Amino acid sequence: KRPPASILFIFGGSGDLNYRKLTPALYNLFLDEWMPDKFAIVGIGRTEYSAEDYRSHLTEGIAKFSRRKEEQNGHYKQFFEHVNYLQLDAGDVASYQRIADYVQQKEQEWGVHPNVIFYLAVAPQLVPSIAQELGTLNLCKDKSTTRIVIEKPFGHDLESAHELNALLSGLFAEEQIFRIDHYLGKETVQNILALRFANALFEPVWNRHYIDHIQITAAESVGLEDRAGYYENSGALRDMVQNHILQLMCMVAMEAPVSFDANEIRNKKVDVLNAIRPIKKEDVHEHAVRGQYGAGWMKGKQAVGYREEKNVKQGSNTETYAAVKFYVDNWRWEGVPFYVRTGKYLHQKSTHVTIQFKEAPTYAFPSEAAESWRSNRLTISIQPEMDVRIRFQAKRPGQTMTLDPVNMTFTYEGSDDHTPEAYETLLLDVMEGDATLFMRADQVEAAWKVVMPILDTWETRIPQDFPNYAPDSWGPEDADAMIARDGHSWINLP
Ligand code: BG6
Repeated sequence: KRPPASILFIFGGSGDLNYRKLTPALYNLFLDEWMPDKFAIVGIGRTEYSAEDYRSHLTEGIAKFSRRKEEQNGHYKQFFEHVNYLQLDAGDVASYQRIADYVQQKEQEWGVHPNVIFYLAVAPQLVPSIAQELGTLNLCKDKSTTRIVIEKPFGHDLESAHELNALLSGLFAEEQIFRIDHYLGKETVQNILALRFANALFEPVWNRHYIDHIQITAAESVGLEDRAGYYENSGALRDMVQNHILQLMCMVAMEAPVSFDANEIRNKKVDVLNAIRPIKKEDVHEHAVRGQYGAGWMKGKQAVGYREEKNVKQGSNTETYAAVKFYVDNWRWEGVPFYVRTGKYLHQKSTHVTIQFKEAPTYAFPSEAAESWRSNRLTISIQPEMDVRIRFQAKRPGQTMTLDPVNMTFTYEGSDDHTPEAYETLLLDVMEGDATLFMRADQVEAAWKVVMPILDTWETRIPQDFPNYAPDSWGPEDADAMIARDGHSWINLP
C-alpha cells in the first residue's frame, strides 16, 4: 500500500546528501511504485537554480549514484515532474511563508490534506534555527501529518544533544521527529532482528552461557574524502561509534520485543545502551584505542596522511580509527566483551558482526585433530557482502580424525538490484509515519552517555603517537594489543 499524499521539503536541496542519496532513493521508490499517488519534492537551498537546471543536476546524481541508473520508458521525466526547487535563505524568517503558501497551493490542487515532511540535510549548526522557524509555522501544528527529519550528527556531545532535544520537544511532538541513523535502514541490519527473533534456533544460545565474545567491525577503505569541514569536528568515535556501531550493538544485544511497535523496539534498544558499563576515565586507555592514518599506499595509489589532507588543521589530533571494548551489565551479557572498531583507509571495506561461541566443554578427539577449538562462530556481514555464515567443525574426509572449520552460508548476493538502499526504506517509513527505525530522544542521549568518558579523556590527553597506522592496514597495533590482552584477535573476513 502506498503512503498518503506527501510533500517533502528538503533543506540542503542543493547539497551532497540529496544529490547522492536522497533523490536517488526517492527515484527508486518511484520506480518500485512506492511513492504516493500524489507527491511533491521541493529542494530548498541558497544556490540559484531554475527548476530545469535543478532537475538536470539531480538527474546527474541519479545517473551516478542510484542503484538503478538507467532511464527507461520516460521514467526520469515522469519522476521529475514532481520535483521543484525553492531558492530560500533559511536564515530569512519571512521566506518561510513561501513554504506555507506552497503547501496551501498543493492542498487545493490535490483536494487532500497531505503529509508535510521537512528533511533537514544541512550542516548541524543550521538545524536549531530552521527547526525553530518550522516549529512556529502554523502548518506544523498537525502532529499526525507534519514531520521533521534530522540527519546525523545529532549534537556534538551529550550536552548539545540534550539541548537540541529540548529545543525540538518544545516545538514538535516526539512522534513528529525522525532522527536518522541510516544503518538502521540497511537490509542486512534489519535482518538481525529476523535472524534472532523469527527463529527458535539461535535465541537459546544467544547469551553469556554460550557466547565467548562479540566483535563488530565497520571498516572503510575510503579516506577523508574531502570532508575536513565536518570530520575535523567529529572523528571516528562521534562519526561511527556513537551512532551506527552502538545501534548495531543494540540489535545484537537487545531482548526480544513483544511486538513491532516503534516504541517497543526502541525501549528494548535503549535498555541495552543503559546497561553498557560506564567506562571510568582512568580506565579509558585499557578500553579504547584511537588511531590516525599516516601517508602511504592505498590499493596501489599514493595516499596522503590525514594531517596533510585538504583543510585539516596542522598537527590535527582527530582520530580516524577507534576501537572500544564494552560490557553490557545485564543477566544475558554479564562478562561477555563486545569489541567494536571502525576506521578510514583500512585494508578492506567490510562491516560485520561476529558472534564467537565458547569452546565445546570437553573433547574426545585427539588434540591434534583441530587447530583451534574455538570454531563455532556466527558472522553477520552487513556490507559489502550481505550474508550470514555459521562456522562449525567438520571431519575432513580420510582415514584420520582431522577436523576443519567449514561455513554454512546464507547470502543475499545476486539480489543487489532488488535490495533497497537504506535511504529508500527510511524515506518510505517517514512518509508512512513509522518511527521504528529512527532514533528516539532518549536513545540518542543514552548513546552519547556511553561514549562521553572516552571523548572527554581523549580531548584532554594529546595522542603522542599520531599518525599511528598506515593506509591499507588494519589500524594501530594498540588495537591488536587491546584485544590480545584478553586472548583474542580481531576477526577479518576472508
Ligand atoms: C556516515 C559517516 O554516517 O557513514 C561517514 O559520516 C561514513 O564517515 C558513512 O563513511 C559510512 O556509511 P556506509 O553506508 O557507506 O557504511
